[in-house]
Amino acid sequence: MPRHVAIIMDGNGRWARERGLPRIRGHEEGAESVRTVLRTCGEWGVQYLTLYAFSTENWKRPKTEVAALMRLLERFLRKEAPELMEQNVRLQAIGRLTDLPEACQKELHRVIELTAGNTGTTLILALSYSGRLEIIDAVRSLIQAVKAGHLDEAMIDPGVFSKHLYTRYYPDPDLLIRTSGEMRISNFLLWQLSYTEIYVTKKLWPDFRKPELLAAIEDYSTRQRRYGGL
Ligand code: FPP
Repeated sequence: MPRHVAIIMDGNGRWARERGLPRIRGHEEGAESVRTVLRTCGEWGVQYLTLYAFSTENWKRPKTEVAALMRLLERFLRKEAPELMEQNVRLQAIGRLTDLPEACQKELHRVIELTAGNTGTTLILALSYSGRLEIIDAVRSLIQAVKAGHLDEAMIDPGVFSKHLYTRYYPDPDLLIRTSGEMRISNFLLWQLSYTEIYVTKKLWPDFRKPELLAAIEDYSTRQRRYGGL
């Protein structure tokens, strides 16, 4: 069983187009997949689930779609909070969270605080997230630490570096799932995915439910992880 699963949830728009529906209907159905996958991770003892919910590049989408996605996120947090408590889920978020609309930030921080003491699965939402910007932010933080005299430049190694990333509290993902068939990382967790097993499925995210998650985890369980060794 992977300890940490990360997912690039792709294909909401295509799912909606195939049905002649507006794109937001695809995102809504995608939110259903989030509920199912999170519940299943809890049942199976996956400790960390990181979801790529909104990238910094996603701000370039039409204003109406961005606004609808932000409303969906806020509604999801408000509606799901009691369920997260019930399931013992701890919510966390990574990314440039201050870019989010105020109402969204407020709800996000409320639910993060509410669930802070939970000990089941940690759900990490990547919001206004960019892997490159995360690395740049880490470099800035390291420079500050060196300038302030808290860190000796000679001590900087991968272990020290990762302590300056947004993900400093979590282990690296064991399994990356990408839906809708694209063979790309798309600026997601660039540092953290170095030794992660990658699983790509043609299924669109709204169609990714318990059987699809099982197939991904079964595939993962056949992999031999050597981390560059023999
Ligand atoms: C990619 O599909 C999906 C997104 C950019 C948004 C992901 C959001 C959700 C799954 C719903 C809300 C999330 C939470 C955490 C409640 P796409 O729009 O790029 O699809 P396409 O490539 O087929 O157009």
